[in-house]
Amino acid sequence: MSSQALEPVRPLHAVSPPAPVMVSASQQMADILALVERVAARDTKVLVTGESGVGKDLVAREIHMRSARATRPFIAVNCAGLTETLLESELFGHVKGSFTGAYRDKPGKLQLAHRGTLFLDEVGEMSLRMQALLLRFLENGEVQSVGADHVQTKVDVRVIAATNRVLADMVTNGQFREDLLYRLRVIHIHVPPLRERREDIRPLVKFLVSKSGREGEFSEAALKMLERYRWPGNVRELQNVVEQSLWMSNGSRVEVAHLPPAVQAAGDALVPMRERRRQVSDELYTALVSGGYSFWEHIHPLFLARDITRYDMRCLVRKGLSTTRGNYRSLLRLFGIATQDYKRFLNFLAAHDCTVDFREFRQGSPPPLRSPRLLPPLGEHTAGSADGGERKATEHGAARAV
Ligand SMILES: Nc1ncnc2c1ncn2[C@@H]1O[C@H](COP(=O)(O)OP(=O)(O)OP(=O)(O)O)[C@@H](O)[C@H]1O
Ligand SMILES: [Mg+2]
Repeated sequence: MSSQALEPVRPLHAVSPPAPVMVSASQQMADILALVERVAARDTKVLVTGESGVGKDLVAREIHMRSARATRPFIAVNCAGLTETLLESELFGHVKGSFTGAYRDKPGKLQLAHRGTLFLDEVGEMSLRMQALLLRFLENGEVQSVGADHVQTKVDVRVIAATNRVLADMVTNGQFREDLLYRLRVIHIHVPPLRERREDIRPLVKFLVSKSGREGEFSEAALKMLERYRWPGNVRELQNVVEQSLWMSNGSRVEVAHLPPAVQAAGDALVPMRERRRQVSDELYTALVSGGYSFWEHIHPLFLARDITRYDMRCLVRKGLSTTRGNYRSLLRLFGIATQDYKRFLNFLAAHDCTVDFREFRQGSPPPLRSPRLLPPLGEHTAGSADGGERKATEHGAARAV
């Protein structure tokens, strides 16, 4: 197949997405948009991560639309929705007769995305064999269709991948290839959950109301309640709630009573956000230092299940460091972590962007100790006793601050 044959047969407007509208009022989203602008200028591979519904697709489209490839196809492939065989054929195409039902040659999405962008959604769901095939493509750009006995063509495709999984953990568990992770994550864009950027809620509501084509506005009390809710389904859930509430209010102003019961219930129970966050890290800390809890057994699973956020985790680490006067190694005893797990602990913090700079805790007098019983002897607190590890932790943090 010549490179000529790779030109998409459909007219370009049929594959290019309409310009996405990305509402952003928070500093986090402003930072992301600035990064999007920068990466759009090059063909660098980008990995977009974040919980379901935060806007990863939107970020990928935004990169494409701002890039020199904007008039070329943006092709999305959902790696989760297909069996391994179908995904291989979807990506690389197949030749006639390669399997039952393959009545004619069919180009894959990689060929269709030639000179454009391929968006690999839910890339964490790929089998190890597919990961190997993808890696080979990323290394040489060559495409060999299913059933073909030789490489048929080379394509020029920019790859953007997305996942709501923590790929670093999957690498540790042997479920994701480390070399592929490095290939895909040249630039990493993490889209934070909506509950960590509540400033976006009001403008999003306004945008979603206008997008719905319905008349309507939200009362101040209703907006405040939306700002207090936890949004496990993020912007997608907000979209549904706005639609549902507009329907319930039937053209009149949306009041608290028109909001779905789950949102109202959260509003009743919640204390102000800052206070809630403080309470969460306080509770975790107390459970660790005096409640018999241990970091890997109790806190880590809460984090993986997303019952606690990165913000909570950072607050917990800060609390610990303020007790140990910035000594990371002393956190081990405080948090019930075995000495040999020191590196694992630092790697975990770095991988999840939870590393806290220890230096600010080295100055001034230490705060009163909450649980002296569980603290290491004072002799271990001398500044510099664990500097090697701590310097490494800070470096990890800086390196991940892309
Ligand atoms: N900042 C935003 N401004 C406007 N709309 C947004 C924004 N973020 C998300 N949305 C909308 O919310 C919905 C969910 O976003 P998107 O599909 O990009 O999420 P996702 O992170 O890819 O989710 P999943 O992991 O489930 O695939 C989409 O309809 C999208 O247009
Ligand atoms: Mg998506």
